Amino acid sequence: MVTVNKNYLKLPGSYLFSTIAKKVAAYQEANPDVQIVRLGIGDVTQPLAPAIIDALHKSVDEMAHAETFHGYAPDLGYEFLRSAIAKNDYEARGCQISADEIFVSDGAKSDSGNIQEIFGTENKVAVCDPVYPVYVDTNVMAGRTGDYNKKNENFDGVIYMPCLESNGFLPELPVETPDLIYLCFPNNPSGAAITKDKLQEWVDYANENGSVIIYDAAYEAYITEENVPHSIYECEGARTCAIELRSFSKNAGFTGVRLGFTVVPKDLVREGVALHDLWARRHGTKFNGAPYIVQRAGEAVYSPEGKAQLKEQVAYYMRNAHTIYNGLKEAGYSVSGGVNAPYIWLKTPNNMSSWDFFDYLLENAHVVGTPGSGFGAHGEGFFRLTAFGSYENTQEALRRIKAL
Ligand code: MLT
Repeated sequence: MVTVNKNYLKLPGSYLFSTIAKKVAAYQEANPDVQIVRLGIGDVTQPLAPAIIDALHKSVDEMAHAETFHGYAPDLGYEFLRSAIAKNDYEARGCQISADEIFVSDGAKSDSGNIQEIFGTENKVAVCDPVYPVYVDTNVMAGRTGDYNKKNENFDGVIYMPCLESNGFLPELPVETPDLIYLCFPNNPSGAAITKDKLQEWVDYANENGSVIIYDAAYEAYITEENVPHSIYECEGARTCAIELRSFSKNAGFTGVRLGFTVVPKDLVREGVALHDLWARRHGTKFNGAPYIVQRAGEAVYSPEGKAQLKEQVAYYMRNAHTIYNGLKEAGYSVSGGVNAPYIWLKTPNNMSSWDFFDYLLENAHVVGTPGSGFGAHGEGFFRLTAFGSYENTQEALRRIKAL
């Protein structure tokens, strides 16, 4: 008899953003004339930059001729893109990462969900609380956790590191030593950033304990402060303890194009096995490479024109972030994030629960955000707004929120 993966049954409800989409769709259906402003999921709204569009057109034309046609891409990524990444994202920041330590993929969400596969199921996982739900859910699916505990809204067997207002929404080194540590900075959902010194403490801790840090740097393009690292490899010793996940979604608007990459340094060895080789094996077996066209578009991100245009695009979203941050402050909310990240994290008014505030905002301001509790128990009482809307919609949302 066929059996199912019972670990899936441990997951309560559906994926956070699917739940929100369903709720919003139902509200819109019941209220067809209402103009909803969507500042929930962190999905970009601005068109692809001209340099990227040019690269796409050019590579599409190449596909029309036998001499320049491309079939399966190399499973680890085209050399032209891996070299551009190594040079611009790492060498330029003084990090020692070579092109053959970079694995190109169809996005950081898949990589952040898949990376756990190369680790044994007995590994103990530590996550921030609140946290991007993919890290936890994929470890649940893999059987690396116990059951969901309704009382504390946690999975048994997972080390949760509370990120609270009192600690600047930054995790503290856990008392119980984890094997795998997921960190995301600048942080989704709270928008908090970590300084290089603080991140160095995590790298030292991981090296001392033999842990591996899975570092999600999807939002690094939004860093504005000097002492905030763009990559974990800016820290000494990170090559022996850290894997880094990167995305083209947020820095270049590729949410609908799909491109990302993962860095696994060759010095990262556990039980005598290079994790680089395991990830290469996994990637080669389960992935047939990101499309040529998309990788050419990714290369254009690093061209002089691409860089200039994307700088403007990031600045556009950061203007939204400031609009939300300042608008909420003026309206008397307690707010954080939005300085090195496109997310604004606010405390719900009058001790409302996160989901009550979601409903309140949807019904009274027709604005969609993301309930903090959807990211974990310690997100309760908080709410996330994204800066990825259009400037006009962002202004309109704030006008409505202020008028409440
Ligand atoms: C979010 O809203 O948290 C992100 O858009 C989710 C993602 O990048 O997958």
